[in-house]
Amino acid sequence: MEILKFNGICKYFGDVKALDNISFGVKKGEWVSIMGPSGSGKSTLVNILSLMDSPTKGEFLLGGDDASSLNEAQILEFRRKKIGLVFQQFHLIPYLNAIENVMLNQYYHSCVDEKSAKSALERVGLAHRLAHRPSELSGGEQQRLCIARALINEPDIIIADEPTGNLDEANEAVILELFKGLRAEGKSLILVTHNEELGKYADKIVRLRHGKLDKIEVLNEI
Ligand SMILES: Nc1ncnc2c1ncn2[C@@H]1O[C@H](COP(=O)(O)OP(=O)(O)O)[C@@H](O)[C@H]1O
Ligand SMILES: [Mg+2]
Repeated sequence: MEILKFNGICKYFGDVKALDNISFGVKKGEWVSIMGPSGSGKSTLVNILSLMDSPTKGEFLLGGDDASSLNEAQILEFRRKKIGLVFQQFHLIPYLNAIENVMLNQYYHSCVDEKSAKSALERVGLAHRLAHRPSELSGGEQQRLCIARALINEPDIIIADEPTGNLDEANEAVILELFKGLRAEGKSLILVTHNEELGKYADKIVRLRHGKLDKIEVLNEI
């Protein structure tokens, strides 16, 4: 069953067709890589998938419901309960330490609990960095903190926009292992990446070109 589905999705910014007639689906437990050159529409696509932006045209189905039929409160609810987001720019709060950054997100999800914040950080290998502020963490550690933060609501779907874009290979490998673990737990994973090595761990690669669907490669049938 497809938990997210695009049918002929278009997104226009004035004259710019950032997305032009894109159709594909994401199944439960499926890992989908979104690939394509800079400016091909990857971020626009994940912004719509993560309900931060809406399409100009086309149908977007969320667990079978048409997103356009949902009101704002229902959309917020879906985003809060089902989706965990990881960005290239970490968007961490500089004056809060690691555990406080995670707990701030718990606060938004109304599930403040220091013990589970700590275990989320343990899970990404940051048990020894709880009281460090973002500026006192390496790039790889900051991204792991972001992943811990994204997991706080036990989301079914993790959406990551170039999460390893600023990281070296060693840190990229650590993040890759985390993603593999999430997939093994049955979570759906949508990963925007430039990196072919990383992209090929997916079950399916969606390739964009100038806002159009270039091709879909199925590597592993779900
Ligand atoms: N908010 C916006 N306003 C105007 N144009 C935008 C906006 N966001 C993206 N675009 C344009 O849409 C196209 C796709 O951008 P984007 O989705 O960011 O590509 P990618 O993430 O693949 O690099 C680009 O031409 C970009 O300039
Ligand atoms: Mg982008």
